[in-house]
Amino acid sequence: MKIAILGAAGGIGQALALLLKIQLPIGSTLALYDISEITPGIAIDLSHIPTAVRVEGFKGEDASQALQNAHIVLIVAGIARKPGMDRVDLFKINADIVCNLTMQIANIAPKAIIGIITNPVNSMVVIASDVLKTMGVYDRKRLLGVSTLDVIRANTFVSQLKNKQPTTIEVPVVGGHSNMTILPLLSQIKDISFSQEEIIYLTKRIQNAGTEVVNAKVGGGSATLSMAQAATRFSLSLIKGLQGRENIIEYAYVEGDGEYATFFAQPLLLGESGIKQYLPIGKISIFEQQILTNSLKELEQDIKLGKDFKKQII
Ligand code: LMR
Repeated sequence: MKIAILGAAGGIGQALALLLKIQLPIGSTLALYDISEITPGIAIDLSHIPTAVRVEGFKGEDASQALQNAHIVLIVAGIARKPGMDRVDLFKINADIVCNLTMQIANIAPKAIIGIITNPVNSMVVIASDVLKTMGVYDRKRLLGVSTLDVIRANTFVSQLKNKQPTTIEVPVVGGHSNMTILPLLSQIKDISFSQEEIIYLTKRIQNAGTEVVNAKVGGGSATLSMAQAATRFSLSLIKGLQGRENIIEYAYVEGDGEYATFFAQPLLLGESGIKQYLPIGKISIFEQQILTNSLKELEQDIKLGKDFKKQII
């Protein structure tokens, strides 16, 4: 199994590389790529950790060596927001980066499963899909926007509020990965009931958790460590699916069946070639339905932003 991290020298990239070096299956290869000079050094640093995972590092404009024979490619490259910014404010710079990297993936590793972490995820996945389409290699079952951080945050906040072991809680989070589009389905958590105040508090906290970190880092960027853990969980699930393990389910932002929007975060059954099945979001409460309805406009705008970028690439 070969996993490539594009943007490996940044805050998320380095933490993600460390977690994967420790947790990837024996015999895997971890390929680190970044324009930064220090990338080969990060690979050497990691290679001194005694696990049976080979680490390679590549710097410069050309990601092809990292992409050669990759089964999974994670895009984390791009700029992070500062206090007062919305994820969508990152669009201009990050769109070019994601577009460029996706072109390289299409050329070198067209069959790889791609996980996009770069923000705004709601638009970046759309751009990547258009690049892959234009280059004739798009398969919607192999392109996923990573929204796992919303799930792990929701698990943490619910477990804190209800005094439970965090590992016993799994909160479904659907929609997208920004503001109102982040929709935790608290009504679906088994054996826990919430007051209306608790539902409002948790929903807002989960939706604003990224901003909570951005503000607390006072201009030094956004979530890196929790995002790296989320991307690790996501990657290990993808790998289990690729290995043919049964019942591997993750939530991710994908081009699904278009019931709510053309791109939407939903539960997915993972399998040997990426997404095996698009699962329904299930029964939701009136409160959740209201948020879903109100957030679709924002989601459609984010999708349109991504679609409009296409004009520049063809
Ligand atoms: C997050 O949710 O922490 C990330 O999307 C980064 C951000 O800008 O909030």
